[in-house]
Amino acid sequence: MCEYAQPATQIRYTLHCRHHNPASDFITNTLMLMPDSYSLTAVRGPLLHFTDNPFVVDEQNACEHVPDGMLVLNKGRIIDTGPADDVRKRHPQLTAVEDFGRNSLIMPGFVDVHSHYSQTHIIGAYGEQLLDWLNRYTFPEEMKFADHQYASAVADTFLNQLLSNGTTTAMVFATSHPVSVDAFFEQAQQRNLRMIAGKVLMDRNAPSALCDTPESAYHDTKRLINTWHRKPGTRLEYAITPRFAPTSSDAQLEMAGRLKREHPDVAVQSHLSENRKEVQWVAELFPDCEGYLDVYDQHRLVTDRSVFAHCIHTTDAEVERLAAARSAIAFCPTANLFLGSGLFDLRRATDAGISIGLGTDIGAGTSFSMLQTMGEAYKVAQLQQQSLSAIQAFYLATLGGARALKLDDRIGSFTIGKEADFIVLNLQATPLLDSRMQQTTTLEERLFVLMTLGDDRTVQHTFVHGTPIRAVS
Ligand code: GUN
Ligand code: ZN
Repeated sequence: MCEYAQPATQIRYTLHCRHHNPASDFITNTLMLMPDSYSLTAVRGPLLHFTDNPFVVDEQNACEHVPDGMLVLNKGRIIDTGPADDVRKRHPQLTAVEDFGRNSLIMPGFVDVHSHYSQTHIIGAYGEQLLDWLNRYTFPEEMKFADHQYASAVADTFLNQLLSNGTTTAMVFATSHPVSVDAFFEQAQQRNLRMIAGKVLMDRNAPSALCDTPESAYHDTKRLINTWHRKPGTRLEYAITPRFAPTSSDAQLEMAGRLKREHPDVAVQSHLSENRKEVQWVAELFPDCEGYLDVYDQHRLVTDRSVFAHCIHTTDAEVERLAAARSAIAFCPTANLFLGSGLFDLRRATDAGISIGLGTDIGAGTSFSMLQTMGEAYKVAQLQQQSLSAIQAFYLATLGGARALKLDDRIGSFTIGKEADFIVLNLQATPLLDSRMQQTTTLEERLFVLMTLGDDRTVQHTFVHGTPIRAVS
């Protein structure tokens, strides 16, 4: 049994164990956030992580699979990894090893590169495409986030969903209310999560209760960056967040570009070319720009720390420009299908060398599960006679996402020194999964079944900074 040197502090979570596994007792006993100075611990089981990009190199050279592996953890970081017998020999003092067994798979926590926590309560709003959906459902819901208490309650639900689904890092839109960012970061900090978020910038074409001004947005964003961005003892980062071109004036986009130049290590997130009517509207609103991406480019928002969601109707020239700028794309298949926006051309983007991650895009997206998101990404590729292998999909959901967010020096794989955010998948989580797994013979087959049949039930444990923490879903 794993033991920690100090008593737990802060938040207690209740674990909801659907299937008994001896390891669950360990989790139930230690299901609290721990202080930083707990003793050396290790987990054992089949390990999978990525060391390279399987869209570029051969798949077998892109990942490491250790059928009986071990991760040694100390102060929230991975300090050793490899075949269990070898690792054990290097750490004779190691007494606390939790063995999850051969029917598990230990991998880095999922990285969701695009989501809106404020839309948790409107998932599955019926029957509209993007612009009507924003007006009819999204904006009325986002108005509620002027209330700090409401925002905190939704952030709590959202983060619990992330953890239940094995997502340990996300890039998140708040709303235009500064308190919505405070509420989100407060909840993330209580869980010691690595998160990126920002206040939505929006000064036109939206209800006045949601509109800021270039000046108020500048001061509010400055205050939020100074309060939350990369503060010692936290794992939080800020993202400058113009919602999308139609809801920002030129003056506001100019201000956003200025903020980026004043804070070069802050990320940028926005939407790009999701829906045909939206693209047409942008052409009308910005007649002097060469296209949608050029609106952001003219204001110097197309940077190597920018993440653009969707990019379905982008031109070849825009794809080239995104690659040259080393900006990333968030591929959000469930949202694109739900809003009927179109099919993201994954092959064109990966051939251009663009960094891609997967986004749930809650609440246009319909699932918090990155496993289901991978499965839908596969189907979007299929509809275009493209392929997305399981190895490629799991790369996108882990190291690929970390690279898209430029966080791969800290998370996304089991490289020694990285932060110990990882998950334990249970390959027998449901009777169907169990029986289907028995028909498989290769790792690739098992991964493909996981992204087809898996969901939050498959995520048995989520470790954040070395500590098991899994909220009730
Ligand atoms: N474009 C502008 N805002 C949004 C949003 O909230 N969701 C999606 N899917 N697209 C957007
Ligand atoms: Zn979005």
